[in-house]
Amino acid sequence: MRRKAKQTETEEAGIREVVEKSGLRHIAFIMDGNGRWAKAKGMPREFGHIAGAGVMKKIVRYCRDIGIKYYTIYAFSTENMKRPQHEIEAIFTLLLKTVNEAMDEENVEFRFIGDIDALGEKIASKCHELEEKKAGGAVRLNIAFNYGGRDEIVRSVNRLIAEGRTEVTEQDISDHTDTRDCPDPDLIIRTGNEMRLSNFLLWQSAYSELYFSDRMWPDFTTEDVDQAVREFAKRTRRWGGV
Ligand code: FPP
Repeated sequence: MRRKAKQTETEEAGIREVVEKSGLRHIAFIMDGNGRWAKAKGMPREFGHIAGAGVMKKIVRYCRDIGIKYYTIYAFSTENMKRPQHEIEAIFTLLLKTVNEAMDEENVEFRFIGDIDALGEKIASKCHELEEKKAGGAVRLNIAFNYGGRDEIVRSVNRLIAEGRTEVTEQDISDHTDTRDCPDPDLIIRTGNEMRLSNFLLWQSAYSELYFSDRMWPDFTTEDVDQAVREFAKRTRRWGGV
């Protein structure tokens, strides 16, 4: 047992070095596959979300430990409102509970990104209360909740219009997004064997590296994070140059 713990520590130190050398600052996760994972086990979709919430906590802690300074998790999209009401309610309850529990013991500052106010006064004030309670951590976690990339761009432009602007630059839009105080994601990881962004961080992902895993989110492990990070470190980012 002791030898295994020691080996794990060494591996973690190795991956920390890869993170540092590769310049990886911001990872974003699309946590896909909870429902299919549960269905394959003959269980209701909510069972998958409960398992997924546990994995979310584990991955958040691990990313902090290997030196990722910013991470964003896609927890619920504007389009996920099309799901059955009982599933929506289960996700909302679970998400707020998980955030509350997980962040208590971690040195993580977190923000909800997305149209939180559209979720109604009760949920919105709970989200703001959680944000204030955990403000000031060493690393930053964004939780995309009632989030849509297109919706975010529209809200950014509307903020600019409200400021009286009639013409805007790319920088103006970046400065009015929900992630305005974070660097753009370097790496976006999607689980669940689907290869699309599904309206996630459309503005910010212009030059993100994409990584797709065929694992369903409840089966995603810290070793899978390592694999994605090592793959990222091998990529050549040209930003349109040569
Ligand atoms: C995009 O796929 C994936 C997401 C928006 C993440 C969805 C995750 C959950 C609802 C569960 C998270 C909750 C907890 C508490 C862990 P999509 O299915 O919206 O898009 P698609 O239709 O293009 O596949």
